[in-house]
Amino acid sequence: MQVLVTGCAGFIGSHVTEALLESGAAVHGVDSLSTNYDPETKRRNLDGAREWDSFTFAELDLATARVEPLLAECDAVVHLAAEPGVRPSWGSRFDVYVANNVVATQRVLEAAKEHPERRIVFASSSSVYGHAETFPTPESARPRPFSPYGVTKLAAEHLCSLYGENYGVETVSLRLFSVYGPRQRPDMAFHRFCRAALEGTQVTVYGDGLQTRDFTFVADVVAAVRAALASPVAPGSVYNVGGGSQVALVDAIDLIAELAGRPIEIEKVPAAAGDVRATGADVTRARGDLGYSPAASLEEGLAAQLAWTEGARPAPATGAFT
Ligand SMILES: NC(=O)c1ccc[n+]([C@@H]2O[C@H](COP(=O)([O-])OP(=O)(O)OC[C@H]3O[C@@H](n4cnc5c(N)ncnc54)[C@H](O)[C@@H]3O)[C@@H](O)[C@H]2O)c1
Repeated sequence: MQVLVTGCAGFIGSHVTEALLESGAAVHGVDSLSTNYDPETKRRNLDGAREWDSFTFAELDLATARVEPLLAECDAVVHLAAEPGVRPSWGSRFDVYVANNVVATQRVLEAAKEHPERRIVFASSSSVYGHAETFPTPESARPRPFSPYGVTKLAAEHLCSLYGENYGVETVSLRLFSVYGPRQRPDMAFHRFCRAALEGTQVTVYGDGLQTRDFTFVADVVAAVRAALASPVAPGSVYNVGGGSQVALVDAIDLIAELAGRPIEIEKVPAAAGDVRATGADVTRARGDLGYSPAASLEEGLAAQLAWTEGARPAPATGAFT
């Protein structure tokens, strides 16, 4: 089996790539090494994959490069390439979000029309829900994004569903909820909190810190992606992939401080535009159709991320995103 992994040098992409290689698949990874954070960090994310002869890599931008040859040569696609992050999606950077999240996805799907039997697993996001109507939130809840980022992920997810319904392209969208673990992006909360705990520096918390998130360990996301590649589900299907708990940010900080054996000093700043109060996944559908069952507790996952942070070479967060 040859799998095309887009965004393979990113946080989640590098884990998915390694897991597929370990399972015996050949992986062709593509990534533009975009500058949402240091491209050197992304190159390092590929160190593990590069040890495999069954891994090949091409640096390219899916919003502009020829995508057809990539689709012609693979049996399945895991489409993770995107511009992530809620807060920077306002203002002039919106163009980047549209290009990397909407245009790039549409181009992958156009190429897939020629090979509709190839499974395409798309990384959607909990941000499509915005201020959700119910908790835990089922897939049937009305999506109402609260950020420009969420709008682009919902647009891409709709594209996946309609190429499924119109052309039979075997798309499956996974709505991922706040993913964390080793190699997490430097702009993300747990990355900054782990660093602060180890370095004794202050962290910035947006809002009162009582906002809750359904945090999902990256290995559970990898398991969901692999199940979505293999399960016989209808083209255009959508699934929540959450970690199984709703935790307030301040409680997660306390847990990181406890694991690190050092208090974390918090500076509270006003809530950021686009941030929602709570997220919480109802994973009943994924459990039934994909056999998905999150395995990592928050404590285990954070211990793994702290250990990684301790061993990682310094990769300071880009100022704009902290
Ligand atoms: N991390 C999370 O909590 C989370 C939650 C929900 C959804 N997601 C989605 O999961 C996916 C991976 O997120 P991540 O956190 O690993 O982010 P990441 O930034 O670490 O990885 C994304 C990768 O895509 C690449 N990329 C961007 N635009 C591209 C293009 N046009 N062509 C080729 N490559 C391109 C980037 O260079 C980057 O390496 C994204 O689609 C994101 O929207 C992430």
